[in-house]
Amino acid sequence: MRFIVKSYGCQMNSYDSQRMEDSLLEASHQRANSLVDARLIVFNTCCIREKASEKLFSDLGRVRALMNGSAEKFLIAVTGCVAQFQAQDVLKRAPWVDIILGTQDIHQIATKVDEAMHKQLSGSLVSTTLNAKSKFMRLSEQFFHRNVAEFITIQEGCNNFCTYCVVPHSRGREFSRAAVDVIQEAKQLILLGVKEITLLGQNVNAYAGEGLDGKKWNLSRLLAEFGQLNGLKRLRYITSHPRYMDEGIAEAHEKIATLAPSLHLPIQSGSNRVLGRMNRKYTVEEYLKCIQMLREHRPDLAFSSDFIVGFPGETDEDFQQTIELVEKVRFSQAYSFKYSSRPNTAAATMNDQISDTIKSQRLRVLQDLLNEQQNKFNKSFVGRHVNVLFTKKGKHKDQITGRSEYAQAVTVYNDDGAVFIGDIARVEVTETLPHSLIGKVVK
Ligand code: 5AD
Ligand code: SF4
Repeated sequence: MRFIVKSYGCQMNSYDSQRMEDSLLEASHQRANSLVDARLIVFNTCCIREKASEKLFSDLGRVRALMNGSAEKFLIAVTGCVAQFQAQDVLKRAPWVDIILGTQDIHQIATKVDEAMHKQLSGSLVSTTLNAKSKFMRLSEQFFHRNVAEFITIQEGCNNFCTYCVVPHSRGREFSRAAVDVIQEAKQLILLGVKEITLLGQNVNAYAGEGLDGKKWNLSRLLAEFGQLNGLKRLRYITSHPRYMDEGIAEAHEKIATLAPSLHLPIQSGSNRVLGRMNRKYTVEEYLKCIQMLREHRPDLAFSSDFIVGFPGETDEDFQQTIELVEKVRFSQAYSFKYSSRPNTAAATMNDQISDTIKSQRLRVLQDLLNEQQNKFNKSFVGRHVNVLFTKKGKHKDQITGRSEYAQAVTVYNDDGAVFIGDIARVEVTETLPHSLIGKVVK
């Protein structure tokens, strides 16, 4: 069957989508070029904010229209976080969906497709058990096409229960994969031409997998092992929780040559009162100390972060403290969101919800400041050299683009064909655009 996997949301979803594609290819299905050309459509979904969940339902409506206008038979699968968190909503609002697989049942995609193709009775096939161990044991062992910069999930789920967050419900409790498995996977990816690997986890610093010596390894120990991998040119990890950062990670940034000097460290708010109500388990002062400790070991470390504005009860004063925090840290890049109330989370029942108008105002102010900082950060590179891993062709003919070690998008003219996708080259930065750098390869 010709299939397409549409991935929403975070990098862990992209990883899961790739693994489902591997399973379908292994079972002799073929990739479709577009949605219209596909007969099996897999929506691998995200439910972190209400908008993300609703995107699925509007896409399902569009697919329904496509199905109604066609004589062909389609199979529709909904997988991932919405499937896990809102399976009943999916069944009710889109009863034409054939397969529903939760976040830790995605390894079943090929067998469920087979079942759905041959089943006699109508009704959806639903599987939403939260068992990460069995997922990783049973994922396809074959890896098909990969890009030069790829991801490996080393840890899934979260035990923190931040009061706004659905992840402990949609991905379950923390689970860490054994080092032997993730290293084996990395070696396979390297054979496929992968040059950069990002180790993924909802709370990657809480990694506690079985090590090669049979003992429990933490993240810094695992990073050290990845630092030894032949052929791996660059290493990253995401997402870090400030509470779980330790000196070992800071030392890893000093010692491991391939570990990129950029770090995503979400703070969410600059107000201790709000952080307390979010159940983040650290204060602004602890966050700043952590940044300082990391900078002492690796002065050029570039920090990115996540922010939520309009969390229940956030006052103008609280918001002002977030602005002050941003001014103190100076982020190279950041994501910011309006608080979105999610079912089954503690914050959803807090009674001092903030109006959308105020959320929008605060978001605008915060994003203006974060954009200004990103711009400043990027401008400071004009005339300097960065190391770029080229990942794809640029928008214009003869352009090639990639990422610097600081995770900036960098584009160069490559009309003489001096560099190829997969190369790391020194680039002199000549100018900056709002969200990227332009430069020329240093010969
Ligand atoms: N509303 C808004 N943003 C959220 N995030 C997580 N849950 C919510 C929510 N309910 C944001 C956090 C997190 C990022 C992945 O998404 O900033 O770090
Ligand atoms: Fe959600 Fe908090 Fe866990 Fe991150 S640490 S996944 S924000 S509960």
